[in-house]
Parts: sequence; structure tokens; C-alpha cells
Amino acid sequence: ENSKMPNKISKVFYGTLIHSLSLTNLEILQNTLLGIDSSGKIAFIEKNVLDENTLNNIISQWEFPQQEVIRLSKRQFLLPGFIDTHTHAPQYPNAGTGMDLPLLDWLNKYTFPLERSYSSLSFAEKVYPMLVNNLLRSGTTTAVYFATIHLETSKYLARLVKEKGQRGFIGKVNMDCNSPEDYIETCDDSVELTEEFIKYVLNLEKEENGSRLVHPIITPRFAVSCSSQLMDSLGLLAKQYNMPIQSHLSENVAEINFISELFPHLPDYTTVYDHHGLLNEKTIMAHGVHLSLKERKLIKERNIGISHCPISNFAICSGVCNVRQLLDEGIKVGLGTDLSGGYSKSILNAIRNANIASRVVFMSASKANDESLNKSFPYLTLPELTYLATMGGAELVNLDKIIGNFLIGKEFDALLVDADAYQSPLDVFDDLDDIERIFEKFIFLGDERNLKSVYVKGKKVSGTDLM
Ligand code: GUN
Ligand code: FE
Repeated sequence: ENSKMPNKISKVFYGTLIHSLSLTNLEILQNTLLGIDSSGKIAFIEKNVLDENTLNNIISQWEFPQQEVIRLSKRQFLLPGFIDTHTHAPQYPNAGTGMDLPLLDWLNKYTFPLERSYSSLSFAEKVYPMLVNNLLRSGTTTAVYFATIHLETSKYLARLVKEKGQRGFIGKVNMDCNSPEDYIETCDDSVELTEEFIKYVLNLEKEENGSRLVHPIITPRFAVSCSSQLMDSLGLLAKQYNMPIQSHLSENVAEINFISELFPHLPDYTTVYDHHGLLNEKTIMAHGVHLSLKERKLIKERNIGISHCPISNFAICSGVCNVRQLLDEGIKVGLGTDLSGGYSKSILNAIRNANIASRVVFMSASKANDESLNKSFPYLTLPELTYLATMGGAELVNLDKIIGNFLIGKEFDALLVDADAYQSPLDVFDDLDDIERIFEKFIFLGDERNLKSVYVKGKKVSGTDLM
């Protein structure tokens, strides 16, 4: 890249942009020009470009060849890339199976035996490339990954995410107690390997031209499988390296009861993490299904984010998270697939299940005449669901100044959606160009066949165009 001309324009799109300006404000910009510079950042946005002359005038200011403008059809649009704030890379082979058991039994019977296999690099080589490819194809431009306890294959996952051009947070998992004897580590090893992992990932890439793509994240599996001593040490590591942290919180009732047996001196699950220095503005906690008001206040106070994983919460019968309540209380929320607790790798499916979950909460509360029901804003709306999948996720990973929507200066992580990509419910009305309707249909009926191009930091990394 030419450092003398950092503002050289490398791509220009002309057409419709759809993105979230806030939780409730979904902006649809038609006839818009969007230019990306050579570092992958959005250099300009020009709205209401209604004729060729105006288009030419603007383009000529940027010394960009007019004929290279990517012109979207009336039934195509750009959408910010999806952010999966919670997924387990090693569990991909189990996706779609093992939904007959609740969390703790599910972990022991299906999950730990599979995760143990990643002591072998050749096993990881069979799974991880396919997973990262498939996530990109599903439009997940940023993913927050749990790997396993194994250092070498966790490093491999980080290398792979970088190689494939995805934005990612990768965690080597920590677990030193209440785990199978062949899938456990000592506290000392766990801390030592985690520090080595952090240094390795930080060295994978220099921070040039803006943000790094691949980040390490400290990953105590959950307070069940981490000793007090381990959690204390991980809290210190997080401080020392200014690292984000991810774990599971309040997913399942049996899990919560186990936590109160393990930590009888602490009042609740959230406080267990807080007590060990694991809650800060860079912490992502998956699930948060059964939180008390007191816990939610602590979550808000520490400014941690909740990764809502509705597919998983339904599939392994953990419960229904009241996202409306979290949002009303000012808590940050993003979406997660939670493979393979959740059977689908697709954030589109997470959006649909989040929609259903919010309606279940609403219907149960209505039926019970529950006072806490927010009657003016009942279930989640399309703008809100879109926000959770993009900007909400960006807030959780502390990249809301870098990605999540199309503001000038942000990095271009985007999906070029094509409603006419295949014979589908999206194109029943051939001549239809009602963009709001097309967008809604894509969110509820679309799939990866509608993703013509997937961009991360301005670079095309997936999509039907590349197949
Ligand atoms: N809690 C601890 N480990 C896991 C896991 O792998 N998946 C889910 N859904 N919950 C967990
Ligand atoms: Fe999980």
C-alpha cells in the first residue's frame, strides 16, 4: 500500500445503503455514493445523487474512474457485516445434534468429548477452515470465538481467521476444575498458556492503517470450571494486557444452583465474576437469561455486554432472555450463535430467533398481566434486530467507533445483498422495488445465496461472487 497517498479511493458503490444510526433509527439511503480508501475506510458518502452528471462531478473530485463505480440494482443494497458475539469454533461438528440434554449434561456428554479432539492439529485442520469459510459466507464479518484449552490449535484458529480476512476475537479456553479428567488443565498451566497465547496473537499483525483484525480475548469457560485462583489470575492478566474477557453467565437454572454451591459466600453469579476482577467495559457475557435486578444493576454499572444467544437458549432449553428489559435498563446487547448449543452458524437465524424470543416474552407477560411489561415497546422491531446484529455487536467488542454502520471514517465491513440472487420467496414480485419490503424479506427469508459480496475492511473476502 502506498503510504504517500493514504486517501486514494479504491472502491466506489452507487445505490442503496441500509444501516443503524441508533437502536430505533434504521437509515435507508437510496441513490447514494459510498467511497472506500485504500486502507479500507469509508472516505466519503454522498446522498441523493440523482443523475449521471452529479455522479460524475463527485467522482472526478476523488480521481476515481467513473466506469469502475459498482452500481447496485434497485433490488440490491449494502448492509453492515454481521457480528457474532459468541460462538464455539470447536463445536461446529456437533451443530444440529445433541439437543436432548440440558446444559451441564450436554457439556459432559457431547461437548467436552468433541473439544478434547483439538489436542490434535490435524483434527483442527479438518474443522476450523470450513467453519471460518462458512461464517464468512453467512455474512459474519466479525466473530468472537471460544477455541479449546489447547494452545497450538487455538493459535491455529487465530492464524486462520487472519488469513481468511475475517475480523475476530479468539480465546484459548481456561478450565481447571469440575471438568473431565482428560479435558482439564492445572491453574498454573492455564495462566501460563493464556499469556503465551495473548502474546502470540498480538504479534500476528502490526497495527497499521487503523485497527488490527485479529484480537486475543481472555476466556474463562464459566465460573463452574474455573477455580477462584484461576479467575483471579485471569483478571490480573486482563488488566496487565488491557484485554477483553468473555465467558458464560446465568444460562441455565441448574448451572446457577451449582454456582451458589461453589461460591456460597457470594450473593449471585454476576458477583462471582466481579469478585474475581472479570467484569469491565470489555467483558462479554453470553446468555444472561436468568439475571436478577441486582445483577442487572451490577452489569450496567460495570458496563459489560450481554451476548444474546436465542437459538441456543431455545435448543438446549435454557430459558428465554428478556432483551427488551436489558435494553430498557441501558445494558449493551449483541447477538451470538453459540454454536453448537445453537444449531445454526448464521446471524440471520439468530435475528429470527431473537425476534421469536422477544415475542415469547411479550406473550407470556401479557398473559400474566405482568406489570413490568413495556406496553409501548413490546417485542423487538426490525430496526432493533438489525441494530443488535451490527452496532450492538460492535459495542460489545468495543469497536463501535470502527465498525457497525456506514459512517465516514469507519472501516468498511459490509454485505452486498442481492434480492434477485436465486429463485426464492424474495423475488415473487419481479418488478417490486419497495426497498423496505425487500430488506424485511431478506432478514426473515434470505440466506447466504443472497450475499453477493462480503467485505471486511474494504476487502472482498466471501460471497457468491467469489465462488
Ligand atoms: N457454558 C459453559 N460452556 C458452555 C458451552 O460450551 N456452551 C454453552 N452454551 N454454555 C456453556
Ligand atoms: Fe457458549
